[in-house]
Amino acid sequence: MIMNIELEQYIEKHTAPESDLLKKINRDTNVEVLKPHMLSGHVQGRFLSLISRWVKPKRILEIGTYTGYSALCLAEGLDADGKLITLDVNEELEERVRGYFKQSPLGNYIEYKIGDARKIIPSLNETFDLVFIDADKESYSLYYDLVIDKVPVGGCILADNVLWSGKVTDEKPDKDTRAIIHFNQKISDDERVENVLVSLRDGLMMIRKIK
Ligand SMILES: C[S@@+](CC[C@H](N)C(=O)[O-])C[C@H]1O[C@@H](n2cnc3c(N)ncnc32)[C@H](O)[C@@H]1O
Repeated sequence: MIMNIELEQYIEKHTAPESDLLKKINRDTNVEVLKPHMLSGHVQGRFLSLISRWVKPKRILEIGTYTGYSALCLAEGLDADGKLITLDVNEELEERVRGYFKQSPLGNYIEYKIGDARKIIPSLNETFDLVFIDADKESYSLYYDLVIDKVPVGGCILADNVLWSGKVTDEKPDKDTRAIIHFNQKISDDERVENVLVSLRDGLMMIRKIK
């Protein structure tokens, strides 16, 4: 969301702090990794953690691990016998991410799979109480179609970047923007779910399956 720096600082100051490990991942990613803006960050990370703690999921699916920041936030809400599966196609970050997961007790609850989520998801024979869609924007609608039958009634799907830097209202949207516009409309039209588009950071679609 477009916001001035003072308000951003105010929001951060009045949000629970990041753990030392999350702070380190945030800092390392900004200094050492390409496209650091992709990381969820402090406020969205705390939001994901809070939602996960409310949902108390047994199984979480994350599509788009990147440097592992949001996976660790989401894992905070897992049941004692819970598991989070996180998928990413980028093998270059694998060593770094596995290193971060090892530094957290939550790492034991995380199954990190490298590969194309479009191919992996159909092979997952599980249900997921919480799904976080945060990979390539072009495939958002496909990811939704692939996961919706794996989510029980009452389950929750979150999708990041649904305002796409405000480009969703452009008169001549580019390809990725068109994909996000299509996704947002598809969710709004789907009677199996109720949803809210929250203007947190770059826009977060919150979806609850109702039938
Ligand atoms: C926005 S980043 C994820 C950020 C992370 N969820 C966080 O909040 O810290 C998107 C990630 O999706 C991954 N990705 C893109 N296309 C993918 C695909 N087809 N399958 C799996 N991962 C994909 C990219 O490699 C990238 O790491």
